[in-house]
Amino acid sequence: MFRIVLFVMVTAAFGQTKFPGVGKAASAERVKAADKTVMADGRGLPVGKGSVEAGRALYKTKCAECHNEAGEGRDKQWPALVGGTGTLASKAPKKTVGSYWPYATTLWDTIGRAMPYDQPGTLTADEVYSITAFVLHLNGIVAAGQELDEKTLAKVKMPNRDGFVADVRADVKAKR
Ligand code: HEC
Repeated sequence: MFRIVLFVMVTAAFGQTKFPGVGKAASAERVKAADKTVMADGRGLPVGKGSVEAGRALYKTKCAECHNEAGEGRDKQWPALVGGTGTLASKAPKKTVGSYWPYATTLWDTIGRAMPYDQPGTLTADEVYSITAFVLHLNGIVAAGQELDEKTLAKVKMPNRDGFVADVRADVKAKR
């Protein structure tokens, strides 16, 4: 008898989800928060704005712990966001925002979606604009006093913008 009761209880507890105690239910609100895609040309960027100066303070509290004060990375574990210009064709290419990333818009998407690494998705749109502006400033791409918004971000010309080549194989139909 006892065994049967226990069996029923255990089945009831585990029957609710496939992996009990793991994860949270995907509410409509949580799905909406994750359901965003920013395209290279800026489509999908939310309305908002941010400045290099506001980004400086946010970066210090939310990013420097891992990426270091000037974006130089830390302990080989946390990647550098700055430097590496001119190394891509060398035997030791150093890929960073400044040396490698072709678009500022997709940088916004990455920061907003995946950073801070330990608390992804917690930044507001304006915070992401500010932090993106500051990371670009660390790379010498935008000036100290600059503000960026959903229209101006796509106009930022990244140093390696023309460093990517289209796939020329005949069976690749994707337009570039
Ligand atoms: C707890 C440590 C940690 C914190 C805090 C953190 N990051 Fe990261 N970041 C990482 C790691 C680890 C990676 C590499 C992730 C990967 O390759 O998937 C990364 C990758 C990145 C990249 C992509 C780099 C590249 O060239 O591929 C960017 C950009 C970035 N972080 C920006 C930020 C910004 C901005 C913040 C602050 C809002 C931040 N990170 C906070 C650990 C962290």
